[in-house]
Amino acid sequence: MRPKIYITRKLPEQIIEGLRRDHDIRMWEEEEIPVPREVLEEEVKEVDGLLCLLTEQIDKALIDRAVKLKIIANMAVGHNNIDAHSATERGIMVTNTPGVLTETTADLTFGLLLATARRMMEAADYLRSGKWETWSPLQLTGQDVHGATLGIIGLGRIGEALAKRAKGFDMNLVYFNRSRKYEQEKKLGMKYLPLEKLLQVSDFVCVMLPLTKDTAYMIGKEQLKLMKGTSVLINTARGGIIDEKALYHALKNREIWAAGLDVFEDEPVPVEHPLLTLPNLVTLPHIGSASIATRLKMAALAVQNLADGLAGDTPRNLVLL
Ligand code: DGY
Repeated sequence: MRPKIYITRKLPEQIIEGLRRDHDIRMWEEEEIPVPREVLEEEVKEVDGLLCLLTEQIDKALIDRAVKLKIIANMAVGHNNIDAHSATERGIMVTNTPGVLTETTADLTFGLLLATARRMMEAADYLRSGKWETWSPLQLTGQDVHGATLGIIGLGRIGEALAKRAKGFDMNLVYFNRSRKYEQEKKLGMKYLPLEKLLQVSDFVCVMLPLTKDTAYMIGKEQLKLMKGTSVLINTARGGIIDEKALYHALKNREIWAAGLDVFEDEPVPVEHPLLTLPNLVTLPHIGSASIATRLKMAALAVQNLADGLAGDTPRNLVLL
């Protein structure tokens, strides 16, 4: 019997053609529209393998319907969209795609930091809307990045790749992580600080953590109050780590200077979300890993993990709880 697979979004044929040889594949054929929940609920009933994106909630209710399921391969490094505990209890493997998106996501994070500090989006809108009438001394002035202190919350692969970029801008590097990273401290001249201290001293704070029950709302009202009035907060990790209501108030009341967000608690963020009314917020639609090469690598890695798991091998990127 050929294993059955469901893929929740249209992937390029070149990525899945190898998989087709030994597996029966069904795929949601849309690129821009996520698979409706009711379709997914029907599809999972019969499959041995599921390849999904962060747009699908693979919760206990869905897992319970997937009676034959052996593996869930997420095309993302973050896997907070999957109830990995319920999956593991049922003996279902969960995999993700770490490593291949590290540099691309660090590029975007540093780009968002620069864009936010130097008000690039606002400046581009200013020009296009015909407001540029003269050059003036304090027009569209922002914060200097070079020489400033960058606080990185979460020194995993992407956090470290971000630190390397910041080093090139002569930034002072401090970090908070659940465990000390002595090698990185030495290699990159980074200093470990408790979270409260990091928030107090940093000019830029970048959130680089996975979303878990321990990191949910880790940055709220109290933490934002510790930050400098001139500081900039950047999040390209997951929306639920920052309390968006508290961030709205901190930005509106200029308790912090600006924020750059690539991620939101609810995605796509509704256009009427209060945060989007603020001039000191720079927003992107979750494009951290969005280079052509990297997205293809993520898809290929998810396919490889799926194939390995279904073949009875241990997938390279098994999520361990
Ligand atoms: C991930 O992989 O978790 C990103 O958010 C999407 O690339």
